[in-house]
Amino acid sequence: MTSDQYRSKGRGPEVLQTDPLFLYREKLLAAGHKLIDLSFSNPSQAGLFWEKDTWMQFNPVETSQYSPDPQGPWVTRKAICEYYKEIGADIDPEQIVLTASTSEAYGLCFKTFMQKDDEVLVLTPGYPLISEIAFLEGFKVSSCPLTVNFEEGSWTLPWKKLKNSISTHTRILALVHPSNPLGNVFDLEQIEKLCQFAQAEGLILIIDEVFLDFPHREKGACPTFAQIQDTEVYILGGVSKACLAPQVKLGWIVVAGWPKQGPARRDHLVYVNDAYLSLSVYAAQISIFLLKNKTQLVETLQGRLESNEKELQLWASGRSLKVFPRRAGWYVVLSLAEQFQHLPDRSGQISRQCMDAGVWVHPGYLFDLPGTCLVISLLTPEIELRKGLKVLGNVQALA
Ligand SMILES: Cc1ncc(COP(=O)(O)O)c(C=O)c1O
Repeated sequence: MTSDQYRSKGRGPEVLQTDPLFLYREKLLAAGHKLIDLSFSNPSQAGLFWEKDTWMQFNPVETSQYSPDPQGPWVTRKAICEYYKEIGADIDPEQIVLTASTSEAYGLCFKTFMQKDDEVLVLTPGYPLISEIAFLEGFKVSSCPLTVNFEEGSWTLPWKKLKNSISTHTRILALVHPSNPLGNVFDLEQIEKLCQFAQAEGLILIIDEVFLDFPHREKGACPTFAQIQDTEVYILGGVSKACLAPQVKLGWIVVAGWPKQGPARRDHLVYVNDAYLSLSVYAAQISIFLLKNKTQLVETLQGRLESNEKELQLWASGRSLKVFPRRAGWYVVLSLAEQFQHLPDRSGQISRQCMDAGVWVHPGYLFDLPGTCLVISLLTPEIELRKGLKVLGNVQALA
Protein backbone atom coordinates (compact mmCIF):
# COMPACT_ATOMS: atom_id res chain seq x y z
CA MET A 1 0.00 0.00 0.00
CA THR A 2 1.36 3.45 -0.84
CA SER A 3 1.11 6.40 1.48
CA ASP A 4 -1.33 8.01 -0.96
CA GLN A 5 -3.74 5.15 -0.46
CA TYR A 6 -3.33 5.54 3.28
CA ARG A 7 -4.99 8.92 2.93
CA SER A 8 -8.30 7.30 2.00
CA LYS A 9 -9.02 6.91 5.68
CA GLY A 10 -11.88 5.38 7.55
CA ARG A 11 -11.51 1.88 6.22
CA GLY A 12 -10.91 0.09 9.48
CA PRO A 13 -7.89 -1.17 11.41
CA GLU A 14 -6.26 -2.66 8.31
CA VAL A 15 -5.27 0.88 7.26
CA LEU A 16 -2.64 1.12 10.00
CA GLN A 17 -1.95 -2.60 9.97
CA THR A 18 -0.91 -2.47 6.32
CA ASP A 19 0.87 0.88 6.20
CA PRO A 20 4.49 -0.03 5.32
CA LEU A 21 6.00 2.57 7.60
CA PHE A 22 4.03 1.50 10.68
CA LEU A 23 4.67 -2.17 9.88
CA TYR A 24 8.37 -1.43 9.62
CA ARG A 25 8.28 0.27 13.02
CA GLU A 26 6.50 -2.74 14.56
CA LYS A 27 9.15 -5.02 13.08
CA LEU A 28 12.01 -2.96 14.51
CA LEU A 29 10.41 -2.74 17.95
CA ALA A 30 9.63 -6.48 17.97
CA ALA A 31 13.28 -7.17 17.13
CA GLY A 32 14.28 -5.20 20.24
CA HIS A 33 15.38 -1.95 18.58
CA LYS A 34 14.97 1.13 20.74
CA LEU A 35 13.55 4.20 19.03
CA ILE A 36 13.80 7.71 20.46
CA ASP A 37 10.25 8.99 20.20
CA LEU A 38 9.81 12.53 18.83
CA SER A 39 6.05 12.17 18.34
CA PHE A 40 4.70 12.63 21.89
CA SER A 41 1.07 13.73 22.10
CA ASN A 42 0.30 12.58 25.63
CA PRO A 43 1.69 14.99 28.27
CA SER A 44 1.29 12.46 31.07
CA GLN A 45 3.79 10.21 29.25
CA ALA A 46 6.15 13.11 28.63
CA GLY A 47 6.71 13.86 32.32
CA LEU A 48 4.02 16.57 32.44
CA PHE A 49 1.41 15.27 34.84
CA TRP A 50 -0.59 16.34 37.85
CA GLU A 51 1.03 15.25 41.13
CA LYS A 52 -0.59 12.46 43.12
CA ASP A 53 -1.76 15.08 45.67
CA THR A 54 -4.16 16.48 43.08
CA TRP A 55 -6.11 13.26 42.85
CA MET A 56 -6.01 12.92 46.68
CA GLN A 57 -7.78 16.29 47.01
CA PHE A 58 -10.65 14.95 44.99
CA ASN A 59 -13.54 14.01 47.25
CA PRO A 60 -15.48 11.08 45.78
CA VAL A 61 -18.29 11.68 48.33
CA GLU A 62 -19.36 14.60 46.15
CA THR A 63 -20.10 12.11 43.41
CA SER A 64 -22.10 9.63 45.48
CA GLN A 65 -25.41 10.94 44.15
CA TYR A 66 -26.21 10.68 40.46
CA SER A 67 -28.82 12.95 38.97
CA PRO A 68 -28.14 12.85 35.23
CA ASP A 69 -28.23 16.04 33.24
CA PRO A 70 -27.98 15.43 29.47
CA GLN A 71 -26.11 18.74 29.11
CA GLY A 72 -23.62 17.69 31.82
CA PRO A 73 -23.51 18.94 35.44
CA TRP A 74 -24.23 22.67 35.73
CA VAL A 75 -21.29 23.25 38.16
CA THR A 76 -18.84 21.89 35.60
CA ARG A 77 -20.38 23.98 32.82
CA LYS A 78 -20.07 27.01 35.12
CA ALA A 79 -16.35 26.26 35.64
CA ILE A 80 -15.92 26.14 31.85
CA CYS A 81 -17.58 29.58 31.63
CA GLU A 82 -14.95 30.89 34.09
CA TYR A 83 -12.25 29.42 31.86
CA TYR A 84 -13.70 31.27 28.84
CA LYS A 85 -13.99 34.50 30.83
CA GLU A 86 -10.22 34.41 31.33
CA ILE A 87 -9.67 34.18 27.59
CA GLY A 88 -12.08 36.99 26.79
CA ALA A 89 -15.41 35.30 26.02
CA ASP A 90 -18.61 35.71 27.97
CA ILE A 91 -20.41 32.34 27.92
CA ASP A 92 -23.46 31.13 29.80
CA PRO A 93 -23.65 27.53 31.14
CA GLU A 94 -26.78 27.11 28.97
CA GLN A 95 -24.52 27.36 25.91
CA ILE A 96 -22.47 24.32 26.90
CA VAL A 97 -22.97 20.60 26.28
CA LEU A 98 -20.54 18.21 27.98
CA THR A 99 -19.24 14.98 26.47
CA ALA A 100 -16.67 12.34 27.43
CA SER A 101 -14.05 13.73 25.02
CA THR A 102 -13.53 16.17 22.18
CA SER A 103 -13.55 13.26 19.74
CA GLU A 104 -16.97 12.25 21.06
CA ALA A 105 -18.09 15.89 20.68
CA TYR A 106 -17.22 15.73 16.95
CA GLY A 107 -19.27 12.53 16.60
CA LEU A 108 -22.19 14.07 18.48
CA CYS A 109 -22.21 17.15 16.21
CA PHE A 110 -21.95 15.04 13.05
CA LYS A 111 -24.79 12.71 13.92
CA THR A 112 -26.98 15.52 15.23
CA PHE A 113 -26.56 17.98 12.37
CA MET A 114 -26.10 15.78 9.32
CA GLN A 115 -28.48 13.77 7.15
CA LYS A 116 -27.67 10.86 4.86
CA ASP A 117 -25.42 12.04 1.95
CA ASP A 118 -24.30 15.19 3.80
CA GLU A 119 -20.56 15.88 3.84
CA VAL A 120 -18.01 17.46 6.18
CA LEU A 121 -15.51 19.85 4.64
CA VAL A 122 -12.04 19.97 6.25
CA LEU A 123 -8.83 21.85 5.57
CA THR A 124 -5.65 19.99 4.72
CA PRO A 125 -3.00 19.54 5.97
CA GLY A 126 -4.69 18.86 9.27
CA TYR A 127 -5.76 16.59 12.08
CA PRO A 128 -6.62 13.19 10.54
CA LEU A 129 -9.12 12.07 13.19
CA ILE A 130 -11.87 14.44 11.97
CA SER A 131 -12.22 12.41 8.78
CA GLU A 132 -12.06 9.13 10.69
CA ILE A 133 -14.86 10.19 13.03
CA ALA A 134 -17.01 11.44 10.15
CA PHE A 135 -16.51 8.10 8.35
CA LEU A 136 -17.38 6.19 11.52
CA GLU A 137 -20.61 8.18 11.76
CA GLY A 138 -21.35 7.21 8.14
CA PHE A 139 -20.57 10.50 6.40
CA LYS A 140 -18.26 11.54 3.58
CA VAL A 141 -15.50 14.10 3.84
CA SER A 142 -14.24 16.57 1.28
CA SER A 143 -11.17 18.72 1.71
CA CYS A 144 -9.72 22.07 0.71
CA PRO A 145 -5.91 22.38 0.71
CA LEU A 146 -4.39 25.40 2.40
CA THR A 147 -1.89 27.37 0.34
CA VAL A 148 1.63 26.81 1.54
CA ASN A 149 4.51 29.24 1.17
CA PHE A 150 7.63 27.14 1.72
CA GLU A 151 9.86 30.23 1.68
CA GLU A 152 8.02 31.98 4.53
CA GLY A 153 6.88 28.76 6.13
CA SER A 154 3.28 29.98 6.18
CA TRP A 155 -0.18 28.62 5.38
CA THR A 156 -3.08 30.67 4.09
CA LEU A 157 -6.74 29.94 3.54
CA PRO A 158 -7.55 30.16 -0.20
CA TRP A 159 -11.04 31.66 -0.04
CA LYS A 160 -11.88 31.01 -3.68
CA LYS A 161 -10.79 27.37 -3.44
CA LEU A 162 -12.75 27.02 -0.22
CA LYS A 163 -15.89 28.27 -1.96
CA ASN A 164 -15.26 25.93 -4.88
CA SER A 165 -14.88 22.98 -2.49
CA ILE A 166 -18.49 23.37 -1.37
CA SER A 167 -21.04 21.10 -3.01
CA THR A 168 -24.77 20.76 -2.48
CA HIS A 169 -23.91 18.01 0.04
CA THR A 170 -21.55 20.09 2.19
CA ARG A 171 -23.20 20.61 5.55
CA ILE A 172 -20.37 21.24 8.03
CA LEU A 173 -17.06 23.09 7.82
CA ALA A 174 -14.79 21.67 10.53
CA LEU A 175 -11.60 23.55 11.41
CA VAL A 176 -8.90 23.07 14.01
CA HIS A 177 -7.81 26.41 15.47
CA PRO A 178 -4.90 26.58 16.30
CA SER A 179 -4.20 23.93 13.72
CA ASN A 180 -2.69 20.55 14.54
CA PRO A 181 0.05 20.08 13.34
CA LEU A 182 0.62 23.40 11.52
CA GLY A 183 0.19 25.60 14.59
CA ASN A 184 -1.29 28.45 12.52
CA VAL A 185 -4.04 30.65 13.95
CA PHE A 186 -6.80 32.86 12.51
CA ASP A 187 -6.82 36.48 13.66
CA LEU A 188 -10.07 38.20 14.65
CA GLU A 189 -10.62 39.62 11.19
CA GLN A 190 -10.28 36.17 9.61
CA ILE A 191 -12.54 34.67 12.29
CA GLU A 192 -15.25 37.17 11.40
CA LYS A 193 -14.73 36.56 7.70
CA LEU A 194 -15.00 32.80 8.21
CA CYS A 195 -18.22 33.22 10.16
CA GLN A 196 -19.72 35.42 7.44
CA PHE A 197 -18.57 32.93 4.83
CA ALA A 198 -20.18 29.98 6.63
CA GLN A 199 -23.39 31.93 7.12
CA ALA A 200 -23.53 32.99 3.46
CA GLU A 201 -22.92 29.41 2.31
CA GLY A 202 -25.38 27.90 4.79
CA LEU A 203 -22.67 25.81 6.51
CA ILE A 204 -22.46 24.85 10.16
CA LEU A 205 -19.07 25.82 11.60
CA ILE A 206 -17.35 23.42 13.98
CA ILE A 207 -14.16 24.83 15.48
CA ASP A 208 -11.83 22.58 17.46
CA GLU A 209 -9.93 24.86 19.86
CA VAL A 210 -8.17 22.24 21.97
CA PHE A 211 -4.79 23.95 21.44
CA LEU A 212 -6.03 27.49 22.16
CA ASP A 213 -4.19 27.70 25.49
CA PHE A 214 -0.82 27.10 23.89
CA PRO A 215 0.15 30.18 21.86
CA HIS A 216 3.79 30.98 21.34
CA ARG A 217 3.90 33.42 24.27
CA GLU A 218 6.05 36.02 22.48
CA LYS A 219 3.43 36.12 19.71
CA GLY A 220 0.47 36.77 22.02
CA ALA A 221 -2.77 35.00 22.94
CA CYS A 222 -4.94 33.34 20.29
CA PRO A 223 -8.43 34.78 19.77
CA THR A 224 -11.33 32.37 20.36
CA PHE A 225 -14.34 31.83 18.12
CA ALA A 226 -16.36 31.82 21.37
CA GLN A 227 -16.39 35.64 21.19
CA ILE A 228 -18.62 35.47 18.13
CA GLN A 229 -22.09 36.84 18.80
CA ASP A 230 -24.08 36.72 15.62
CA THR A 231 -23.12 33.50 13.81
CA GLU A 232 -23.87 30.00 14.93
CA VAL A 233 -20.54 28.33 15.79
CA TYR A 234 -19.91 25.10 17.67
CA ILE A 235 -16.63 25.25 19.56
CA LEU A 236 -15.02 22.06 20.81
CA GLY A 237 -12.60 21.82 23.71
CA GLY A 238 -11.60 19.45 26.47
CA VAL A 239 -9.49 18.89 29.54
CA SER A 240 -7.20 16.43 27.76
CA LYS A 241 -5.32 19.38 26.25
CA ALA A 242 -6.51 22.46 28.21
CA CYS A 243 -5.63 20.84 31.57
CA LEU A 244 -3.04 18.32 30.34
CA ALA A 245 -5.27 15.56 31.67
CA PRO A 246 -6.04 13.09 28.86
CA GLN A 247 -6.96 10.42 31.43
CA VAL A 248 -9.90 12.43 32.79
CA LYS A 249 -12.10 12.27 29.67
CA LEU A 250 -14.17 15.42 29.54
CA GLY A 251 -14.92 17.40 26.40
CA TRP A 252 -17.32 20.22 25.66
CA ILE A 253 -19.26 21.93 22.91
CA VAL A 254 -19.88 25.66 23.27
CA VAL A 255 -22.83 26.82 21.21
CA ALA A 256 -21.69 30.33 20.29
CA GLY A 257 -23.93 32.79 18.46
CA TRP A 258 -26.64 31.76 20.90
CA PRO A 259 -29.49 32.55 21.47
CA LYS A 260 -30.15 33.89 17.97
CA GLN A 261 -29.77 30.60 16.15
CA GLY A 262 -28.53 28.26 18.84
CA PRO A 263 -31.30 26.91 21.04
CA ALA A 264 -33.06 24.60 18.60
CA ARG A 265 -29.84 22.91 17.54
CA ARG A 266 -28.48 23.02 21.11
CA ASP A 267 -31.64 21.24 22.21
CA HIS A 268 -31.13 18.65 19.50
CA LEU A 269 -27.52 18.09 20.66
CA VAL A 270 -28.74 17.68 24.23
CA TYR A 271 -31.41 15.22 23.07
CA VAL A 272 -28.80 13.04 21.31
CA ASN A 273 -26.39 13.34 24.26
CA ASP A 274 -29.18 12.10 26.51
CA ALA A 275 -29.23 8.82 24.60
CA TYR A 276 -25.64 8.11 25.70
CA LEU A 277 -24.99 10.01 28.96
CA SER A 278 -21.36 8.95 28.62
CA LEU A 279 -19.79 11.60 30.86
CA SER A 280 -18.90 10.22 34.29
CA VAL A 281 -19.62 12.29 37.39
CA TYR A 282 -16.02 11.72 38.50
CA ALA A 283 -14.65 13.35 35.34
CA ALA A 284 -17.16 16.19 35.61
CA GLN A 285 -16.28 16.82 39.25
CA ILE A 286 -12.50 16.64 39.03
CA SER A 287 -12.46 18.81 35.88
CA ILE A 288 -13.67 21.75 37.99
CA PHE A 289 -10.55 21.44 40.13
CA LEU A 290 -8.26 20.97 37.12
CA LEU A 291 -9.64 24.00 35.27
CA LYS A 292 -9.10 26.19 38.33
CA ASN A 293 -5.57 24.99 39.01
CA LYS A 294 -4.02 24.33 35.63
CA THR A 295 -1.90 27.48 35.30
CA GLN A 296 1.36 26.15 36.68
CA LEU A 297 1.38 22.94 34.68
CA VAL A 298 0.43 24.81 31.51
CA GLU A 299 3.29 27.30 32.13
CA THR A 300 5.73 24.42 32.56
CA LEU A 301 4.57 22.95 29.29
CA GLN A 302 4.83 26.33 27.54
CA GLY A 303 8.41 26.66 28.77
CA ARG A 304 9.21 23.24 27.35
CA LEU A 305 7.60 24.00 23.99
CA GLU A 306 9.58 27.20 23.65
CA SER A 307 12.96 25.82 24.74
CA ASN A 308 12.50 22.77 22.49
CA GLU A 309 11.58 24.99 19.58
CA LYS A 310 14.77 27.03 20.06
CA GLU A 311 16.81 23.83 20.27
CA LEU A 312 15.22 22.59 17.05
CA GLN A 313 15.85 25.88 15.24
CA LEU A 314 19.46 25.86 16.36
CA TRP A 315 19.89 22.30 15.14
CA ALA A 316 18.25 23.15 11.80
CA SER A 317 20.33 26.26 11.13
CA GLY A 318 23.04 25.47 8.63
CA ARG A 319 21.06 22.46 7.34
CA SER A 320 19.17 22.39 4.08
CA LEU A 321 15.77 21.91 5.73
CA LYS A 322 13.20 24.39 6.97
CA VAL A 323 11.50 24.63 10.36
CA PHE A 324 8.08 26.24 9.89
CA PRO A 325 7.48 29.00 12.47
CA ARG A 326 4.92 27.99 15.14
CA ARG A 327 2.21 30.42 16.20
CA ALA A 328 0.66 27.96 18.67
CA GLY A 329 0.24 24.28 19.53
CA TRP A 330 2.60 21.44 20.38
CA TYR A 331 4.04 20.47 17.00
CA VAL A 332 6.44 21.76 14.41
CA VAL A 333 6.63 20.96 10.71
CA LEU A 334 10.02 20.38 9.09
CA SER A 335 10.19 20.61 5.34
CA LEU A 336 13.07 18.89 3.59
CA ALA A 337 15.35 20.32 0.90
CA GLU A 338 14.09 20.60 -2.69
CA GLN A 339 15.80 17.39 -3.91
CA PHE A 340 13.75 15.33 -1.42
CA GLN A 341 10.41 16.98 -2.18
CA HIS A 342 9.31 14.56 -4.90
CA LEU A 343 10.06 11.13 -3.46
CA PRO A 344 7.73 8.39 -4.74
CA ASP A 345 6.11 7.70 -1.40
CA ARG A 346 6.90 11.08 0.00
CA SER A 347 8.25 11.45 3.52
CA GLY A 348 7.59 7.80 4.42
CA GLN A 349 11.04 7.06 3.06
CA ILE A 350 12.68 9.65 5.23
CA SER A 351 10.84 8.51 8.36
CA ARG A 352 12.14 5.01 7.61
CA GLN A 353 15.69 6.35 7.37
CA CYS A 354 15.14 8.14 10.70
CA MET A 355 14.00 4.84 12.23
CA ASP A 356 17.05 3.07 10.85
CA ALA A 357 19.12 5.70 12.66
CA GLY A 358 17.08 5.12 15.86
CA VAL A 359 14.41 7.86 15.93
CA TRP A 360 10.64 7.74 15.39
CA VAL A 361 9.27 10.91 13.85
CA HIS A 362 5.85 11.39 12.25
CA PRO A 363 5.78 11.39 8.45
CA GLY A 364 4.06 14.43 6.91
CA TYR A 365 1.65 12.27 4.89
CA LEU A 366 -0.13 11.31 8.11
CA PHE A 367 -1.46 14.89 8.13
CA ASP A 368 -1.69 15.30 4.32
CA LEU A 369 1.30 17.65 4.30
CA PRO A 370 2.50 18.43 0.78
CA GLY A 371 5.98 17.53 -0.44
CA THR A 372 8.30 15.80 1.98
CA CYS A 373 7.78 16.94 5.53
CA LEU A 374 8.22 15.57 9.02
CA VAL A 375 6.30 16.52 12.16
CA ILE A 376 8.16 16.81 15.46
CA SER A 377 6.46 17.08 18.84
CA LEU A 378 7.79 19.83 21.11
CA LEU A 379 6.16 18.00 24.00
CA THR A 380 9.11 15.60 23.94
CA PRO A 381 11.19 15.73 27.15
CA GLU A 382 14.13 18.10 26.49
CA ILE A 383 16.82 15.44 26.96
CA GLU A 384 15.06 13.08 24.54
CA LEU A 385 14.71 15.82 21.95
CA ARG A 386 18.38 16.67 22.17
CA LYS A 387 19.36 12.99 21.87
CA GLY A 388 16.94 12.51 18.98
CA LEU A 389 18.20 15.53 17.06
CA LYS A 390 21.81 14.42 17.48
CA VAL A 391 20.91 11.08 15.91
CA LEU A 392 18.85 12.72 13.14
CA GLY A 393 21.91 14.79 12.23
CA ASN A 394 23.37 11.54 10.83
CA VAL A 395 20.43 10.96 8.47
CA GLN A 396 21.68 12.01 5.04
CA ALA A 397 18.46 13.76 3.96
CA LEU A 398 18.53 15.92 7.09
CA ALA A 399 22.18 16.94 6.82
C1 LIG B 1 -6.82 18.78 17.29
C2 LIG B 1 -7.32 17.72 18.22
N1 LIG B 1 -8.62 17.66 18.52
C3 LIG B 1 -9.12 16.74 19.36
C4 LIG B 1 -8.29 15.79 19.95
C5 LIG B 1 -8.88 14.75 20.84
O1 LIG B 1 -9.13 15.27 22.10
P1 LIG B 1 -9.82 14.37 23.24
O2 LIG B 1 -8.73 13.67 23.96
O3 LIG B 1 -10.56 15.34 24.10
O4 LIG B 1 -10.74 13.44 22.52
C6 LIG B 1 -6.93 15.82 19.67
C7 LIG B 1 -6.03 14.82 20.26
O5 LIG B 1 -4.85 14.78 20.06
C8 LIG B 1 -6.43 16.79 18.78
O6 LIG B 1 -5.12 16.85 18.45
